[in-house]
Amino acid sequence: MNPNLPKGDKRKYMQFKDKVVLITGAASGIGRGAALAFAKQGAIVVGSDINEKGGAATLETIKAAGGKAIFIKANVADFTEVKNMIDQIVSEFGRLDIAINNAGIGNLPARTNKTTLETWDTVMAVNSTGVFYCMKLEIDQMLQQDGGIIVNTASVAGLRGLPNNVAYSASKHAVVGMTKTAAMEYARNNIRINALCPAFSVTGLFDPEMVEQVSPGLPQKLINVTPMRRFAKAEEQVDALMWLCSEQSTYVTGLALAVDGGLTA
Ligand SMILES: NC(=O)c1ccc[n+]([C@@H]2O[C@H](COP(=O)([O-])OP(=O)(O)OC[C@H]3O[C@@H](n4cnc5c(N)ncnc54)[C@H](O)[C@@H]3O)[C@@H](O)[C@H]2O)c1
Repeated sequence: MNPNLPKGDKRKYMQFKDKVVLITGAASGIGRGAALAFAKQGAIVVGSDINEKGGAATLETIKAAGGKAIFIKANVADFTEVKNMIDQIVSEFGRLDIAINNAGIGNLPARTNKTTLETWDTVMAVNSTGVFYCMKLEIDQMLQQDGGIIVNTASVAGLRGLPNNVAYSASKHAVVGMTKTAAMEYARNNIRINALCPAFSVTGLFDPEMVEQVSPGLPQKLINVTPMRRFAKAEEQVDALMWLCSEQSTYVTGLALAVDGGLTA
């Protein structure tokens, strides 16, 4: 039993000990959960977000539990900010072992012809272009070391259509396409690149109570079409994400892993 793990925790070893792990969107939801989980397994966590307050809270929780972490404020839709973030990581730690490109936003529901140009541009800039900016520079660094691991948070909306969410669905299909393409390009360079495709997980982005207020009855409808008849906890997404980064998935690359209670089955 590893003495560093809390009592009752069945994991036997800290496989991410001293790995430098970047997580974008670490102020909330799945990113925050991932930051805490990697820190618990010994990683040096670099949490990044535009939300400084939430980022500071993530950092505080990690440090209070004895973990190692820093926070860098960066907007993934701004190439200069992404470049400064990667440069800071390399200058402080000398390497980047794992990158979780997770920052993302949703859009207000609207059919395609009613979707504004502003919604389209904003969602694509964060969800698609942001992932491209991050991957481009992360891969540059990983090629200079002995490889690395990247997980991009896509969505089941990157695997199938999502009515009233044309920008979101398009942006997440792009993430899946980028993931598969880059995975093939760098497989021989010891860089594994996969996508996590969550469905309805209770976070800041998907809050069933808020959805109920905007669209009465919709949360229940979503539960009814999910074979497991429930929403996911953010931790269930984090567990799958950690597996994609782990020594238990060393032959897995280019996968878009649906963690969706059977929704896309
Ligand atoms: N929750 C779900 O049901 C669900 C389903 C499918 C996919 N996802 C995806 O999971 C990822 C994480 O979302 P979540 O559910 O944890 O939501 P969340 O809102 O709790 O977390 C997203 C984080 O991204 C940050 N962010 C937003 N724009 C940013 C930017 N331009 N630069 C840097 N950070 C930015 C936010 O501040 C926030 O902290 C997203 O990519 C989302 O699309 C979530």
